Amino acid sequence: MDRLAIEGGVPLRGEARVSGAKNAALPLMCAALLAREPLTLGNVPHLRDVTTMVRLLAQMGVAATLDEGGALTLDAAGLANPVAPYELVRTMRASILVLGPLVARAGEARVSLPGGCAIGLRPVDQHLKGLAAMGAEIAVEHGYIHARAHRLAGARIFMDLVTVTGTENLMMAATLAEGTTVLENAAREPEVVDLANCLVAMGARITGAGTDVITIEGVARLHGATHRIMPDRIETGTFLVAAAATGGEVRLTGTDGAYLEAVLEKLREAGAEVREEPGAISLAMRRRPRAVSLRTAPYPAFPTDMQAQFMALDAIAAGTGVITETIFENRFMHAIELARLGADIETSGNTAIVKGVASLDGATVMATDLRASASLVVAGLVARGETVVDRIYHLDRGYEAIEEKLSALGARIRRVR
Ligand code: EPU
Repeated sequence: MDRLAIEGGVPLRGEARVSGAKNAALPLMCAALLAREPLTLGNVPHLRDVTTMVRLLAQMGVAATLDEGGALTLDAAGLANPVAPYELVRTMRASILVLGPLVARAGEARVSLPGGCAIGLRPVDQHLKGLAAMGAEIAVEHGYIHARAHRLAGARIFMDLVTVTGTENLMMAATLAEGTTVLENAAREPEVVDLANCLVAMGARITGAGTDVITIEGVARLHGATHRIMPDRIETGTFLVAAAATGGEVRLTGTDGAYLEAVLEKLREAGAEVREEPGAISLAMRRRPRAVSLRTAPYPAFPTDMQAQFMALDAIAAGTGVITETIFENRFMHAIELARLGADIETSGNTAIVKGVASLDGATVMATDLRASASLVVAGLVARGETVVDRIYHLDRGYEAIEEKLSALGARIRRVR
């Protein structure tokens, strides 16, 4: 199993390019299932989750080709086997995103129930409730969701809670339904908007994406299209936090501050100078960071996917930060690992109280999930001496070439195989 060895204490300096967004790429790849013509995606990040999604789609009969420029073309003309097997779904929960498109296009889907994961239970009841409201017959048997519909019918669907992939699944399904679907209490995440833009390019009729009411007028078929995947706002935020924590100065290109205002606001509150330009963000931290308090919530509030990285920043900041996690019930596993590096963190329920310490000391730590791993890397970049982050396959799911990008910014980091 690969590990990352980090020699901490070097302020990050220089320029890095942000990759395409994982959480936009995965639903966009599933959108290819909706058409009989190819969908070409640009700015595709090289990530383990993207490879897993290619495998999942390929075993359904979707042809995938990658051109020299890095564009990925997915052709679902030969869609034959509308099944997402347990072996793949258990390694990537986002596999649930094939459910809506498959029922809409093939009239049937068998998708393994994702089950819980390290950060929480993560049920998919809202996805199923929405599809049922559109007329799908749904049965859960032998660990699989079996959904069938001759043709889905438009419906008014009120989601009990804000769910990102739930909104995406139902929006995709509704593009081919008979009649109009209204999704209320929809997720407003930029990745939902990116997906809607691509679906519209494929011939879908969608209004309201980016607000909490999305209206989809069903059409008989979608056609091929070309779409460029939006920048990864969480990769952007992670690199900015790493620069802030190390007292560095970086410029990130291929990204946009408009997607992460809540995060930039917290970085400014921590004392960073943040400058936004079209297509780039610069950050300089010329003082010891001030601890910030934050509460995660659906977009446009502070993202749960940045919570762990800010805990690492607070760990070495001046003062005390109170962090409240409202999205996932078990997303503080990095706290105990950060404590192994000398952080002073007390957790109780969904709240963590982080008292900043003057310095952290390198140690071996274990990554438990994707963003927890990122927080351990941030802490390792700051800590005195060597930090070894174990189980970095989690990181490889969501950060493209992280050690190369950080090395280019001056970090002393290497992968140990
Ligand atoms: N929930 C339900 N029922 C449902 C759906 C969700 O109770 O039917 C609950 C979940 O258990 C959770 C909350 O609602 O407590 C929000 O979950 P959501 O459905 O929004 O999460 P998701 O769609 O499964 C996406 C991202 C996550 C990100 C969350 C929250 C993708 C592929 N994944 O997950 O990304 O944390 O939204 O913003 O888009 C990551 O990249 O590290 C990651 C975990």
